[in-house]
Amino acid sequence: MKNIKRVLSGIRATGRLHLGNYLGMVKGMLELQDNPGYEIFYMVADLHSMTTPYDQKTLASTAREVVLDYLSCGLEPDKSAVFLQSDLAELHTELMFYLSTVVTVARMQHLPTFKEKVKQYPQNVTMALLNYPVLMAADILIYKSSDVPTGIDQEPHLEVAREIARKMNEAFGTDFPEPKRFGTRGEYVPSLTDEGKMSKSVEGSYIQLTDDLETIKKRLAAAPTDSGRGQAVPTAGGVANLLTLVELFEGKEKRKKYEKQYVTSGIRYGELKTELAEAIYRDLKPIQEKRRELEKKPDYVEQVLKDGADKARKIAQKTIDEVKTKMGLKGGL
Ligand code: TRP
Repeated sequence: MKNIKRVLSGIRATGRLHLGNYLGMVKGMLELQDNPGYEIFYMVADLHSMTTPYDQKTLASTAREVVLDYLSCGLEPDKSAVFLQSDLAELHTELMFYLSTVVTVARMQHLPTFKEKVKQYPQNVTMALLNYPVLMAADILIYKSSDVPTGIDQEPHLEVAREIARKMNEAFGTDFPEPKRFGTRGEYVPSLTDEGKMSKSVEGSYIQLTDDLETIKKRLAAAPTDSGRGQAVPTAGGVANLLTLVELFEGKEKRKKYEKQYVTSGIRYGELKTELAEAIYRDLKPIQEKRRELEKKPDYVEQVLKDGADKARKIAQKTIDEVKTKMGLKGGL
């Protein structure tokens, strides 16, 4: 048993998954779940959703939508524990508190991810927001996970988790591994607009996993391009982003073909976009079919969450007991 590695990943419950999440995270998880050397935990980080303004009327249903997306992408509950963070709120937040004793306020305030949120929500700079990375470290360390499939944007948070693990091990003799990010080929999925990455919060930037062929075509049609021809293939902006998507869904060769066209006869974007839309849809179709099946089985989904939480709780509780002892809360006269 000694060599089994634990893997945990999570995603905030802010809405349905899009292509960026799929390529950046879910694909990594799928790779790992078929490897018997790993024990897998996938959660919906619904507590993290509460760190910025959210709608309490839809939080629970949105979290379940994400679970449905996970399962339709191919996460298998027999192989992976799928659960809601809030179903283990008492354990995750308890560890968050213990971990917070080795983290300074200044370190948290200087994180780029924190600064971004402060800019985005200047009226809502709460303690919960400041604690975001500590809660994330708790999510990971409570299972002593060594590998974390997640997007590259989460690297600063993983750095914090590693620091915390080191400090805890030094100060209290715990044995937390220093978790590293498990990257995938498509970890940076560009936006359909001309800058940034595909993101749920930027309208026009994403393709949803549930989009049908027509919708994908429409979304791609709106993506900015140029005349299709020039001396050098653009390395940033709308065209560069389209070429990255071509590579992700149709392969490197196809991309090279278009790059050659760009500097010779010119790219016809209408054709490129139609082909790309079809390639993307080919990947999404089986996922959508699975989702329709699962939508008819809400009881099954609840059972998956319950089983997942039960499995996770056993390990989480053990870590908490250990930490309490090592930090001096247990013992007695
Ligand atoms: N912060 C992550 C995101 O926004 C979500 C998350 C919460 C997470 N807890 C985690 C990711 C633990 C990996 C591991 O995507």
